[in-house]
Amino acid sequence: MMQPDVFAQTRYAPHEGQRQFHASGGRFKVLIAGARFGKSLAAAKDVLADLVAAPTRGWVVAPTYAMARPEFEAILNDLRARLHVPLQAVTDGGRSGPSHLVTPWGAEVWCLSALRPQGLLGQSVDWLVMAEAAHIDGEVFERYLRARLSSTTGRMVVPTTPRGLNWVHDLYNRATEGDPEWHSFRFATWDNPLVPAAEIESARRVLPAETFDEQYGGAFTTVHGLVYREFSRTRHVAPITAPQGAVVYRAIDAGYTNATCCLWACRDADDRLLVLREHYLCLATADLHAAAIHAIDAELEAQGLVIGPAWIDPSGVTLGAELAKHNIRTSQARNDLHPGIECVRMLLAGDGEPRLVIDPRCVNLLREIEGYRWQDSSRHGERVPVKQDDHALDALRYLAFTLYRNVVWQKVAPV
Ligand SMILES: Nc1ncnc2c1ncn2[C@@H]1O[C@H](COP(=O)(O)OP(=O)(O)O)[C@@H](O)[C@H]1O
Ligand SMILES: [Mg+2]
Repeated sequence: MMQPDVFAQTRYAPHEGQRQFHASGGRFKVLIAGARFGKSLAAAKDVLADLVAAPTRGWVVAPTYAMARPEFEAILNDLRARLHVPLQAVTDGGRSGPSHLVTPWGAEVWCLSALRPQGLLGQSVDWLVMAEAAHIDGEVFERYLRARLSSTTGRMVVPTTPRGLNWVHDLYNRATEGDPEWHSFRFATWDNPLVPAAEIESARRVLPAETFDEQYGGAFTTVHGLVYREFSRTRHVAPITAPQGAVVYRAIDAGYTNATCCLWACRDADDRLLVLREHYLCLATADLHAAAIHAIDAELEAQGLVIGPAWIDPSGVTLGAELAKHNIRTSQARNDLHPGIECVRMLLAGDGEPRLVIDPRCVNLLREIEGYRWQDSSRHGERVPVKQDDHALDALRYLAFTLYRNVVWQKVAPV
């Protein structure tokens, strides 16, 4: 049975975020989301099609048996009550022991606890759901679980809330770093339309901001907090078709050991800032950067856009002079840190609708925006972001500040 049939027969109507997750054919799918997004349900439904189609062996592993129950119960319930499968064997250890089931065609599901990793040896598996992995020891995955998937070229689904910047954050980043077997998704609780807004608002009122961002926002936070809290992939990322004739602005942050980044952006009829493309490269000569910039300029011109002014960071004069030799003229960007950050946040928050949209091709910008954090200590009572992985973000700040510093819609919440 194909995925759509299984969904129909088990009366499952995935919401938009779940739909995106199911649509991915990645071998390893990391689903990071806030509480009650529907991670467990989506993971169970995702593997159900494998289970129904063939005599596959699958494991649901979680930090404890109890935490593996939602996925196991969803599968068990669908097989019994919705698909009317006469199961050959069921042991149900409930919340305190291992459970398993076997179908007449020989498919097996095992419900296991990562607290007893010895129980995770031996068998190879066709699929693995590693539920709430952020609370599993990364060692257990490396030593006991990963090898289970290799002989069968099995697949894995990782439905979990985030927990700081631990090893699950590294799993999440494998996809953004371009490993084609890995696909990552990140959603907030409010991306599930079935969760009442009032419930989310009451959590927001009682929880510390960072905890709320993690548990409901599905964000990788630390106690230091995210600079761009307002950012979400659902709201701010979409493939962009720029309006015909629009002027394209470029902003460059120069680096050598650190990346040099150039962003291309334009404004649409609603005065939103649309970030179209990025160039992001370390350890490269000015000639290489110039060639890459020319190539993207030409591509955008061929789409009917007009290449407008470019800005470069004040410490990038050398690169600026080199680029000028290649006919790429830049002027100095205003590098006011906090006002620039406020400008970007204002665009992210927008006026109900976000005023900043980023094309999914800007993978480095997206990675940086999700990782940008405040430092522990403050300077003159003002918080300062951690100065790393901020090259695309600096370029974004130059664009936002140059184009929008005189625009005021609403004050964003103080940081
Ligand atoms: N697409 C959906 N249709 C109907 N109910 C859903 C859907 N997605 C999630 N739910 C329900 O929402 C609740 C939370 O889902 P769950 O998968 O447990 O969330 P999570 O694992 O993200 O905390 C459950 O009662 C689940 O059945
Ligand atoms: Mg769950």
